[in-house]
Amino acid sequence: MSISVRPLTPVFGAQITNVDLTRPLDDSTFADIENAFETHSVLVFPQQALDDASQIAFSSRFGALETTQGHIANNFTVKQVSVISNLDPDGRLMASNDPRLIYRIGQRNWHSDSSFKKVPAKASLLYARVLPPNSNACAQTQFASLRAAYDALPESRKRELEGRAAIHHYAYSRRNDGIQLTNADEDRRFPPVAQAIIRANPVNGRKALYVGSHASHIAGMPEAEGRALLQELLAFATREEWTYMHHWQVGDLVMYDNRAALHRARPYAITEHARILHRTTVAGDGPTVH
Ligand SMILES: [Fe+2]
Repeated sequence: MSISVRPLTPVFGAQITNVDLTRPLDDSTFADIENAFETHSVLVFPQQALDDASQIAFSSRFGALETTQGHIANNFTVKQVSVISNLDPDGRLMASNDPRLIYRIGQRNWHSDSSFKKVPAKASLLYARVLPPNSNACAQTQFASLRAAYDALPESRKRELEGRAAIHHYAYSRRNDGIQLTNADEDRRFPPVAQAIIRANPVNGRKALYVGSHASHIAGMPEAEGRALLQELLAFATREEWTYMHHWQVGDLVMYDNRAALHRARPYAITEHARILHRTTVAGDGPTVH
């Protein structure tokens, strides 16, 4: 039985059904999924019944997994599954002034996971375990197609950006709105790194405009000028016409290509309803600049 692939928008994203991800996939089924991933950038697998072991097993088919960074929002544990939760270890909702919640503010900015690392993430997989009862309060996740953005750039801009690198810096993106959310240890672990602004997919050659909130300025350009250009490019890359808003249902596994899509968490009543997602992250193949 083959998988069903239904596009979510005319531009990118697809819903994948007729597959049970709790079972080991044969090579042909996995190849179909991998092909859909490379083509559509965001895949939604509804009604899955994953535990951490099956989520890790499926995610690992795409490559080695990143381990979580120990930080204040995950009790400094390092694992293959990152638990995104607004409950404390006793199962109580965190207060609005809890540093673990405040830490998440940065996830509301458009970003590509781990772009502040020398080898940025290839893919992330988010599995919805617990959601607020009212679908309007479910903290949707929004995606933007960096391929559609690249395709729509004027040719002169494409030529100008080809071969250029942006400097991505975790401390920069976590200083937004005047709030400093990193500590000295994180600043040491994540120094500024260069990332290609135009990235081509190694399988199909599709190019993407690789920008996001971690990108601080452009190598070889005055800092203010580069920052202004990056802000302009980010606004362009996240235009409504090439975005997709995911409205979560329990059991959804959403997999996204960090090389070709940005995402952001949408605000919701985070102190009122429990919401727990489990995330696995597939590491990238190597640096984007050499
Ligand atoms: Fe993210």
